[in-house]
Amino acid sequence: MEQKREKFGSRFAVIAAMAGSAVGLGNIWRFPYILGEYGGAAFILVYIAATLVLGLPILYAESIIGRRSRSDTFGAMKKLAPGTPWRWAGLLTIISPILILSYYSVVGGWSVEYLFKSLSFDFMDMPASEIPDFFGRFISSPYQPILTHTVFMAAVVAVVLGGVSKGIEKFSKLAMPALFLLILVIAVYSLTLPGAFAGVEYLLKPDFSRLTAGACAAALGQAFFSLSLGVGAILTYASYVKKEEDLHISGVGTAVSDLIFALIAAFAVIPSVFAAGLKPTDGPSLLFETLPYIFNKMGEGVPLVSSVISVFFFVTILAAALTSAISMLEVGVAFLADEKGFKRRNATLLLGFLCWLVGVLCSLSFGPLSGVKILGATFFFFLDHLCSDWLMPMGGLIFTLFVGWKMSKADVRDEFTNGGTKNVRLFGAVYFLMRYVAPVGIIVVFVTNLLM
Ligand code: PHE
Repeated sequence: MEQKREKFGSRFAVIAAMAGSAVGLGNIWRFPYILGEYGGAAFILVYIAATLVLGLPILYAESIIGRRSRSDTFGAMKKLAPGTPWRWAGLLTIISPILILSYYSVVGGWSVEYLFKSLSFDFMDMPASEIPDFFGRFISSPYQPILTHTVFMAAVVAVVLGGVSKGIEKFSKLAMPALFLLILVIAVYSLTLPGAFAGVEYLLKPDFSRLTAGACAAALGQAFFSLSLGVGAILTYASYVKKEEDLHISGVGTAVSDLIFALIAAFAVIPSVFAAGLKPTDGPSLLFETLPYIFNKMGEGVPLVSSVISVFFFVTILAAALTSAISMLEVGVAFLADEKGFKRRNATLLLGFLCWLVGVLCSLSFGPLSGVKILGATFFFFLDHLCSDWLMPMGGLIFTLFVGWKMSKADVRDEFTNGGTKNVRLFGAVYFLMRYVAPVGIIVVFVTNLLM
């Protein structure tokens, strides 16, 4: 089994794949609107702290479990703690990426629609005030967003069918730098828009009165979502990482690039929200209401420019979304292939279909099914809240408890330091974070969120 497992070709490929999983719609679509809902600067501070103090240790924990076991999530627990109920905890974390992918693909589909619209110059000259209506009509339509969700899901399945090293590596290497540059340009540009300054203030001047327990839980949830934590995605990728690679470097590389992407995306979106006269509390539509406005402004007088930038943007964001989505699908595929004897191809098709089906319900929850509520939320929001604020932190808790309290310290050290050759001095602090700080932090956020 060990020899047969595919491996990532180089250190760059490892970081590109992990960062490719981390950087996606979570940074560019989800982060700006969540921080808009929870009040800006103060939320960002908690989010940064959650990423570095809780997220990074969990990233290490997942990397350690994955590479040590060279298995899928369920198999990893079975291998490292044979005959214990830990494997059921591992199984739990396999369910969440499938749920996440279902609604993630719907948002991916929204980007597909915007790509087509940019290609056909549809946004050109659309007044700022009409864009929200346009978007509202689109997502509430009973068939159009399902069509684009289908296109996105089909692309995810196609890439995963291409195999680990071929499909995923190639994809990750290309898209990231291009998207990074583009977001940076948009961020700088959006600062020059009239009225944008209010947005900058919103991002930099903390208002701690808005920092409720719910906001802290949402910041933690966002950190988990953005870093792909607690769902076995990082664990599964780490199982393809060679013995000689440095898990500390891939961990920090992933966390830092993810953080930078998110912060720049916030500076690209929020100032433009103010400039366009929109509200930062507009929710999941925020990114899709602002982008056409920014692109139209950028191309004022030369409409072709706005379409070209817009097409380029949606192609790269779709690539980033795909590299995240394939890592979600890979978790379940690796499980079915390694543990249940499925052919990779069949596992991919089966799970892809399941995600598509649940995604259809999510998509319809913006239109015909908007009246159907679970615990007061529509299907889309219920799943998003369940996954990011509960299941992902729960998965993270399971992984850190496993590394900090179940595995022997000698094994953990051996894996993190590559047999005592790397990061030896750092290990004490990392172990402390994984054993105490991360689990206690997650439990505190859970409990206060439940009680308040
Ligand atoms: N981190 C991804 C993003 O920011 C989403 C993701 C969640 C990917 C869970 C894998 C697993 O878009």
